[in-house]
Amino acid sequence: MLIKRKRGWELGENQATPEGCYLNRRELVRAMGLGAVAAALPAMAWADTKDPSAALYPAKRNDKYGIPAPMTEERRVNTYNNYYEFGTDKSIYREAQKLEVRPWTIKVGGLVEKPFEIGIDDLLAKLQLEERVYRHRCVETWSMVVPWSGFPLRSLVELCKPTASAKYVVLKTLLKPAVMPEQRDPLYPWPYTEGLAMDEAMNDLAFIATGLYGKPIAKQNGAPLRLVTPWKYGFKSVKSIVSIDFSDKRPATFWEALQSSEYGFWANVNPQVPHPRWSQATEKPLGSDDRVPTLLYNGYGEFVSGLYSDRKAEKLFM
Ligand code: MTE
Repeated sequence: MLIKRKRGWELGENQATPEGCYLNRRELVRAMGLGAVAAALPAMAWADTKDPSAALYPAKRNDKYGIPAPMTEERRVNTYNNYYEFGTDKSIYREAQKLEVRPWTIKVGGLVEKPFEIGIDDLLAKLQLEERVYRHRCVETWSMVVPWSGFPLRSLVELCKPTASAKYVVLKTLLKPAVMPEQRDPLYPWPYTEGLAMDEAMNDLAFIATGLYGKPIAKQNGAPLRLVTPWKYGFKSVKSIVSIDFSDKRPATFWEALQSSEYGFWANVNPQVPHPRWSQATEKPLGSDDRVPTLLYNGYGEFVSGLYSDRKAEKLFM
């Protein structure tokens, strides 16, 4: 695809981890005398007291996959986001409040015994919620440690009853240009689409988050449900999912369709495989001034490396 304009993902080596720019903007707001309002916003702007699932949280913590530390501050996770549908910078959290997350229907189709639709609250009633603290590593080299609540992707796949010929699960974000302004830009291959091979989807670590920090997940973080695959770069973790399809063909995923030389289907974290325009050797935890070494599979190799032993010919790390 021809990229005519400079986009948020077109970072140079020095620009990866653009938190500095974001903080400068905040300083600007403060200088304009709006500091008190801006400081109050992160705690207030998306506290949705009407969310019918609020009583399900906090869920019981499952520590089987470790409890990485230190945990990232909630306000940072809620105010530093990638959600291109709402804008290409990191401060889309106000804009994202326009997303209506009730009613919310998820369509299940493709290679399944029987296609069906299910509302988010019916889905939540069927599955046991748990909390997991996972590392998250964005391809832009920032990272965070966050407590997600939700359920294993495997339980959702089992509910969908894919047929034996299904090789991939394909997840898509809501398409609603009236609410998501960037979806009016035809340069992007909307809707945001991601996919996993079936064995990845059935792996213990693959998770669907419906909550964050012991509450229903905020809109800017992907309400009401998003994928979480902590061993992969963060762009795999598709937000605000409205469809789940099973296919025997590998899907064209959002970033791969946009720029396949830089973003691939597998997207497993590997500090030794640089992005074409910057190193992936280190990362900057949100809220920290220091960079720390990035780990192979983001530190989750013991759970997932076996998935790739027969896939050595694939571009597993981009
Ligand atoms: N999902 C949708 N629909 N749109 C997006 O722009 N960005 C991805 C991923 N999921 C994105 C998305 C990227 S690049 C990252 S790093 C994570 O969401 C960021 O999640 P967070 O904002 O909750 O930290």
